[in-house]
Amino acid sequence: MSKPAEGGLLERDDVLSQLNDALRSAANGVGRLVLLSGEAGVGKTSVIQGFVSGLSGRERVLIGSCDPLTTPRPLGPLVDVAGHMGPLLKKALDQTLAGAEVHGLFGSVLADLNAPGRMSILVIEDAHWADEATLDLLRFLAYRTEHVPVLILVS
Ligand SMILES: Nc1ncnc2c1ncn2[C@@H]1O[C@H](COP(=O)(O)OP(=O)(O)OP(=O)(O)O)[C@@H](O)[C@H]1O
Ligand SMILES: [Mg+2]
Repeated sequence: MSKPAEGGLLERDDVLSQLNDALRSAANGVGRLVLLSGEAGVGKTSVIQGFVSGLSGRERVLIGSCDPLTTPRPLGPLVDVAGHMGPLLKKALDQTLAGAEVHGLFGSVLADLNAPGRMSILVIEDAHWADEATLDLLRFLAYRTEHVPVLILVS
């Protein structure tokens, strides 16, 4: 048995090593999106927490979650993290939640992630419960982060 990895996790050295590779890529301006999949309780959240706890503190960490609701919160994970993002993003989100079309908001998210300063780790937990707009946001970002300093982790 291998020794406990970051956060006291057992048998997770490989995935943490892959996440650190993706982190280095994102820190160099080549964004990455990583999907952590596995059955309920296998340890997806624990891996994310172990990875985040091992970060240097220089990164901006944004953690949003989807909930097992029959009527999902519109853009729930983005609502979770918006308070830690820039004022323009917060304004665009408020406008969208008040009824403005959603595509301008996607551009605002990308612009915020690409703003000078710290790189970002954007975590979207439990995407199987996401609302349609959150899934669209992920699709939008997945094609546009090649030159953006962001690591997106989706569980
Ligand atoms: N590698 C590991 N070593 C030791 N304990 C672990 C490990 N991974 C997970 N656990 C323990 O297993 C339990 C479930 O882990 P966790 O919540 O991370 O799973 P999950 O995949 O996120 O579950 P869910 O699908 O419900 O979101 C927790 O009590 C956690 O502490
Ligand atoms: Mg979990």
